[in-house]
Amino acid sequence: MQSKNERYNLLYKQIESLVNDETDSVAVMANMAALIHDTFRFWWTGFYRVAGGELILGPFQGPVACMHIGYGKGVCGTAWKERRTVVVPDVVQFPGHIACSSESRSEIVVPVIQKGAVVAVLDIDSRELNTFDDTDAEWLEKMLTLLPPLGSERDIWLAAGCFWGAEKYLKLIEGVTFTEVGFANGNTENPTYKEVYTDQTGYAETVHLRYNPAVVSLRFLLEMYFKAIDPTSLNKQGEDEGTRYRTGIYYSDSADRTVIDEVVSAEAKKYGLPLQVEVEPLRNFYPADEYHQDYLDKNPSGYCHLPVALFELAKKAKDRK
Ligand code: SME
Repeated sequence: MQSKNERYNLLYKQIESLVNDETDSVAVMANMAALIHDTFRFWWTGFYRVAGGELILGPFQGPVACMHIGYGKGVCGTAWKERRTVVVPDVVQFPGHIACSSESRSEIVVPVIQKGAVVAVLDIDSRELNTFDDTDAEWLEKMLTLLPPLGSERDIWLAAGCFWGAEKYLKLIEGVTFTEVGFANGNTENPTYKEVYTDQTGYAETVHLRYNPAVVSLRFLLEMYFKAIDPTSLNKQGEDEGTRYRTGIYYSDSADRTVIDEVVSAEAKKYGLPLQVEVEPLRNFYPADEYHQDYLDKNPSGYCHLPVALFELAKKAKDRK
């Protein structure tokens, strides 16, 4: 009997050869799920893709499964939100576990991270307890790096002062499919809100946006972004002051740089002043606690540095591409 490592080693080579020059990610996902499933005879092996702000069932092997899973929900939504592999030795012990099948006893969910964003998760269920460990996590993470780029949705990270108002505003724009608030381009690991608040971590309060480029262009999103900031103000937006409130555009695809530079220089001309908006590749991003996500939807009378009129503007805004 081969060891788990030996089986994964062989499996990895098979997947490598089947990927070869294939560019269609869903096709590779389908065969990847089949190979993993067949090798280990798991109960359920498959993918959920991030689309339209939720996880949607993708290629899989095994019994019929739930088709939609929310951000932060179940094991899958947790792996997405926390962008880490989640190993569950006993599903009964996992708060919020979603039982698509009552036969499932243990589970592993591995996020697929492409260009800094979670674009899908691989979910595997077993009918035995304690099936998965670090060996599975390491091999599966390695395998998932072989997946070709997935989907057409794109990502951009925008720092616009206090992220409560910024998220509410940016989320209203047609074509934005998902937002989360967090901390970008700082110097520590897993920063908490409290740490960022000291202004010693280098992080900027930032909104991560996913958008459908068939509906809204990056250019239009950036133009809308500029309507909600004072780009000439250094480390201060509204009454909020500190490097954590600096403005910034952070990208994970260097191809976006041209459009960003064009919009920034067009804005600079309008002001006739040097702009203080930082433009950098995304170095890191950590989502903030649940408390801060969609804060103004949960607390409609909560603090907001943006005028209400901007929300009306965002609701009506349409990219006439
Ligand atoms: N158990 C998962 C739901 C997906 S099914 O296992 C296929 C979860 O809690 O996210």
